[in-house]
Amino acid sequence: MNSKLKHFTRFESKELGEQLIHSALEYKLDPKKDHQKGAGKRIGCIFLNPSLRTRVSTQLAALNLGMEPIVLNMDKEGWALEMRDGAVMNKGTVEHIKDAAAVLGSYFDLLAIRAFPTLTHRDEDINDFAFGQFLKYSGKPIISLESAIRHPLQSLADQITMKEIFAEKRKPKVVLTWAPHIKAIPHAVANSFAEWTLGMGHELTITHPEGYELDQRFTKGATIETNQAKALEEADFVYVKNWSSFNDYGKILSTDPSWMLTEDSLSHAPKAKVMHCLPVRRNVELSDEILDGNRSLVQTQAQNRIFAAQSVISYLLDS
Ligand code: CP
Repeated sequence: MNSKLKHFTRFESKELGEQLIHSALEYKLDPKKDHQKGAGKRIGCIFLNPSLRTRVSTQLAALNLGMEPIVLNMDKEGWALEMRDGAVMNKGTVEHIKDAAAVLGSYFDLLAIRAFPTLTHRDEDINDFAFGQFLKYSGKPIISLESAIRHPLQSLADQITMKEIFAEKRKPKVVLTWAPHIKAIPHAVANSFAEWTLGMGHELTITHPEGYELDQRFTKGATIETNQAKALEEADFVYVKNWSSFNDYGKILSTDPSWMLTEDSLSHAPKAKVMHCLPVRRNVELSDEILDGNRSLVQTQAQNRIFAAQSVISYLLDS
């Protein structure tokens, strides 16, 4: 295993991806097999944004390894953070990231951070500015709990789920489809799913309405198809996700309900399993009939978040 990786923020290599998937599946069989590995160590889980799965699964993963997790909901319980270096702090922000991250770094052995994009400051978002400030100033290994542009623990859980489900020798046909939504949603899950799926050597088709092209840093090698019905034909896995426009940054260009996945949409994909990271807007992004039917893998994905986090924390404890 690559012993030099200090942080877990992105897809690194197929080799490491396979190692983490293998380790996660071992933890799934026996979650407490390394229950002393993190004894005496603490992980600080810092949330600048809401969460259900990431918050709980990361804590459970740490507890399975004997670590003590402490959660700080910075958006609700912490001081308002100033992220910009050199700022004259005479407005709403109370504490500079330089000070806060250094303090947190001194309290914990590992840090895990969630920092969503602004969806208004494109240049800052695409360079993962807020997340990068934690990396710069904490001095400790950091796990991404979702940054402006990536959600690697979700993507690892998704790869674990596909590995568990797909037993055939051939490569699966994987489709990432845009879905309607009423709010402007970040690109992180879609970016990361593309990055990991392509990086792990799968073929990926991405389908979306015109104007919803993702950042090409994440989609190189994917087939882009604006005809959803064509893209879905014979799919093995259909990953459903909304994202706002990247080119017309952060804007909602379409809410076309015909993009919501139904059994009818999958009439030419009889074996397709359907994935979504949750939370999902039922009957907007995805129909009840899909979510409550045999195709849905959403609960398996959510459960695998524990073992994805456990494999990553365990890996960083070895580094
Ligand atoms: N999928 C996911 O990250 O869920 P939460 O936002 O609830 O953590």
